[in-house]
Amino acid sequence: MTAHWTVSDIPDQTGRTIVVTGPTIGGLGHHTALELARKGARVVLAGRNPAKAEAATEAIRDEVPKAELELLTVDLADLDSVRHGAAAAARYGPIDVLVNNAGVMGTSYQRTSDGLELQMATNHFGPFLLTGLLLPQLAASGDGRVVAVSSPMHRTARSAPLGDPTRQEGRYWKWHVYGQSKLANLLFTGELDRRLRAAGYPVKALAAHPGFSGTHLAANGQYGRAQGGIASILDAAVKAVSQSAAAGAWPTLMAATADLPGDSYCGPSGRGEMAGPPHLVGRTRLARDRDAARRLWEISERTTGISYP
Ligand SMILES: NC(=O)c1ccc[n+]([C@@H]2O[C@H](COP(=O)([O-])OP(=O)(O)OC[C@H]3O[C@@H](n4cnc5c(N)ncnc54)[C@H](OP(=O)(O)O)[C@@H]3O)[C@@H](O)[C@H]2O)c1
Repeated sequence: MTAHWTVSDIPDQTGRTIVVTGPTIGGLGHHTALELARKGARVVLAGRNPAKAEAATEAIRDEVPKAELELLTVDLADLDSVRHGAAAAARYGPIDVLVNNAGVMGTSYQRTSDGLELQMATNHFGPFLLTGLLLPQLAASGDGRVVAVSSPMHRTARSAPLGDPTRQEGRYWKWHVYGQSKLANLLFTGELDRRLRAAGYPVKALAAHPGFSGTHLAANGQYGRAQGGIASILDAAVKAVSQSAAAGAWPTLMAATADLPGDSYCGPSGRGEMAGPPHLVGRTRLARDRDAARRLWEISERTTGISYP
């Protein structure tokens, strides 16, 4: 590896199968999938909207005509959809990497059909269930990996999300809940990695964050869309002051493919971890709190109805 990790450090991925959630064009998932396809991986684009996932495959094929791409429909905010998606994924056989990239940020207060708050459902509980259901296929690869896409915003969480996830205690602060959901990504990664090692599974868990990247995250969260009127203005404003979505995918790509120990956390090397080529980064003390991680794991098992490993 060179001083700074770059995409040219990604080894040949021929023969490997990598599932990437949230592959919509212009987002981090799209660029993650594109680079992995360029390196020869079979990439499963797992999106909630089949038309958007299809558009992403076309965009990737425009750049990588021989790309081996599969489409999987999964709505992470709907546990039944996650179960259906995971069952359909059985057809892919062993899975080398699951990249839990999809997410929402700063959405107004909403409950999903499972009675869960939307940000925690999409960013944590859905990926928790998907990971558990795909674990046998990850283990079958002989050297599986699960990558969570967290955020510098995990630092804003003053407490872990350990309350009853079906109830709102007090006022809903959307940014606080987003920070907690990204803290949950790191608590999940640490606890998953410890449990996998204790159980002797040939699977590791790692995390990454993209700094501040020009995707549709802000507009999607505030307006439910990335284009049209004020959503287009916000989308353009974010792009003007952030690193590109392509660069933002690098930490995820490093976590997915570099030779790193479990529970590694990759993020941009520039000032404030906002931009730049990736390296290993730190996390808050709360994100390393093993008791909080264990309790969140138990809540997640009860909420999603799955126990693993
Ligand atoms: N951009 C940044 O600066 C930044 C910073 C820190 C962390 N992150 C994290 O990076 C990840 C990717 O976000 P992004 O910036 O690429 O944003 P984005 O452009 O909005 O992409 C988010 C992706 O997640 C998908 N998604 C949302 N809800 C879903 C659901 N219920 N089921 C399945 N897929 C769903 C979206 O699908 P639709 O197109 O159908 O909505 C889209 O494909 C997120 O986890 C986010 O928290 C981003």
